[in-house]
Amino acid sequence: MDSNAYHLFACTGTTCEHQGAEEILQTLQAELQHHGLSKKVRVTLCRCLGQCGNGPNMVIYPEGIWYGGLGEKEMKQIVLEHLVGGKAVQHLIQIPVD
Ligand code: FES
Repeated sequence: MDSNAYHLFACTGTTCEHQGAEEILQTLQAELQHHGLSKKVRVTLCRCLGQCGNGPNMVIYPEGIWYGGLGEKEMKQIVLEHLVGGKAVQHLIQIPVD
């Protein structure tokens, strides 16, 4: 995997914070470290992504895949299957609402 092969935008807006964004960010950082991805995955915290109804939300590039309704279990699955294994976790993908 190339340096910064993935770029994650994780919402820390007010609604996502109320839905547990801080806790899943801690899980994300721990899992990235556990899998040796800390320097290969860039994580950018952002404010509201406009999808508050199904937070906490995160978008992963280069694919531009939106994940929502995240908890600790879901975050571990995304790190293992998407960031390590290279396959998006289909059942966690959210289609952004305009
Ligand atoms: S606060 Fe996260 S999508 Fe709005």
